[in-house]
Amino acid sequence: MDFFEVVNRRFSARKYLQKSMDKHLLDTILETVTKAPSAGNLKAYKILALNNKEIKSELAKAAFNQNFIFEAPVVLVFCALPEISSAVYGKRGAELYSIQDATIAASYAQLAATAVGLATCWVGAFDEDLVKKILGLVNERPIVLMPIGFAAENKISKKNYIKNK
Ligand SMILES: Cc1cc2nc3c(=O)[nH]c(=O)nc-3n(C[C@H](O)[C@H](O)[C@H](O)COP(=O)(O)O)c2cc1C
Repeated sequence: MDFFEVVNRRFSARKYLQKSMDKHLLDTILETVTKAPSAGNLKAYKILALNNKEIKSELAKAAFNQNFIFEAPVVLVFCALPEISSAVYGKRGAELYSIQDATIAASYAQLAATAVGLATCWVGAFDEDLVKKILGLVNERPIVLMPIGFAAENKISKKNYIKNK
């Protein structure tokens, strides 16, 4: 698949097959993410890969009952690490660069997942404090919840996910 085909094929999948994915696919995605640019090359982000059913269920609830998060075999949680960035770039690092680092990483992951035949959805609507509590995060700021797996739909879904969020 060339780059433009990957870009054209990516869509927000909100239905997933109950099919596990090989670890090497996830490794390929995470390896691709390491190639993403980051401010000062600090990579001020952390990625959690979660497959525990209870945790996925709690995350779905924290995301205002977006239950497809639970259906996906794996959920990647992209977190910004503001303290890493602020150590070099101060307030701008904490408030902007670390968020951008995590966001760019998530974008690379979406495209890499598409390139290996997987589907994702970018989930930004969630209760941040609750997600932090569920995952025991202290210095990490969760930016994106990203269910990942084999899509049970292949149409391009432009459906609005939650009204007024
Ligand atoms: C910052 C951000 C937040 C988003 N939050 C959600 C979300 O909470 N739930 C959801 O289903 N989709 C979410 N999306 C996905 C968008 O709805 C989707 O990308 C857009 O409608 C375009 O559709 P496509 O991804 O299929 O091309 C989010 C996307 C972005 C970039």
